[in-house]
Amino acid sequence: MFETLEMAPPDAILGLAEAFRNDQNPDKINLSVGVYKNSDGVTPILECVKAAEQKLLAEETQKSYLAIDGSPLYTQQVKQLLFGDSIDLDRVATVQAPGGTGALRVASEFLHKRAGLQRIWCSTPTWANHVNIFQAAGLEVDWYPYLDDDRRGLDFAAMEAKLAEIPAGDIICLHACCHNPSGVDPSLEQWQRIAEIAQQQQLVVLLDFAYQGFGGGLQEDAACLAPLANSGCDLLICNSFSKNFGLYSERVGSLTMVASSADAAAAALSHAKSTVRANYSNPPKHGAAVVTTILEDAQLRTQWEQELTDMRQRISDMRQRFVQVMQEKNDAHDFSAITRQRGMFSFSGLSKLQVDRLRSDYSIYIVGSGRINVAGITENNIERLCDAILEVL
Ligand code: LMR
Repeated sequence: MFETLEMAPPDAILGLAEAFRNDQNPDKINLSVGVYKNSDGVTPILECVKAAEQKLLAEETQKSYLAIDGSPLYTQQVKQLLFGDSIDLDRVATVQAPGGTGALRVASEFLHKRAGLQRIWCSTPTWANHVNIFQAAGLEVDWYPYLDDDRRGLDFAAMEAKLAEIPAGDIICLHACCHNPSGVDPSLEQWQRIAEIAQQQQLVVLLDFAYQGFGGGLQEDAACLAPLANSGCDLLICNSFSKNFGLYSERVGSLTMVASSADAAAAALSHAKSTVRANYSNPPKHGAAVVTTILEDAQLRTQWEQELTDMRQRISDMRQRFVQVMQEKNDAHDFSAITRQRGMFSFSGLSKLQVDRLRSDYSIYIVGSGRINVAGITENNIERLCDAILEVL
């Protein structure tokens, strides 16, 4: 059987990480996968994480299985972090999951196999892996417009018009903040309108929330949750702590379901648990224990919020610097929209051909769509990066 197989194509994002690792050029630059780098170009372990791990090492007494839905202390902290006091948490059910991707997979399988839903609508464009995950769970994927013609801002009129045509019982996938790959987000007013449409059309909302704290701040980035949760539509939130705690390899995230009553939430939870059991039985413990330890400890939590603010600020500074350096080099192209976009990503406007040349001639790695990870830019690589971009442009 193995002899009959052809090679599967490399992953659009993680495949590049592999190619980058194998590149021998000492000046190589990686702006592909969405991983934060500090001003030295290093992905740090946060100090609050190290402190929490030391505490866990001293205090942990066993490594038995977690419950199917994970640690109750963790899921309680997740609900608080998402909603604070903005809604009644009795109608909210949370399942710990292996990363945001694990949460998306559990959510999709739940929606298709347990709730019988058939179709999910994604923004054009969306995170490349959304399509893989949704289709693997059996959902059909369709598209709503998102960006304007030059892919720098939101075309809300087109988005709104399409959402209003989607049939009842379909799912819409939205990015809570720091839209991946464009960095373009709706305003709070626009979120309120989206919530209204979802409720009127009876759409199920699946919110991908991988970058809380990378846009405007922890609370600012969660601002869309309350209007959606209070609109009466069924809401599922897949959040990740890979980025905001720097816990990429620990695979820690969760699926949170907001129903209209406590009974409906309990039923949803029971099906999510059956879905988890048939996939990976129960979630890994360590990353969630680190997150819980930090969120429960006032001092560690303050330290985390500061470290998160520093990461957000550095990315924002690099957005300004990139535009400034391009201007200084008298480039005719207008990159100023990059300073208005938020989170790790922006579209550079580079074509597939230009992206390929950057990789082959300059060892600069960018996703084929032209998406750049702004968090990969540093003072040490910005000149070389901008010169190379000017060359290929
Ligand atoms: C990205 O978009 O680069 C990240 O979310 C990492 C991934 O898994 O693709």
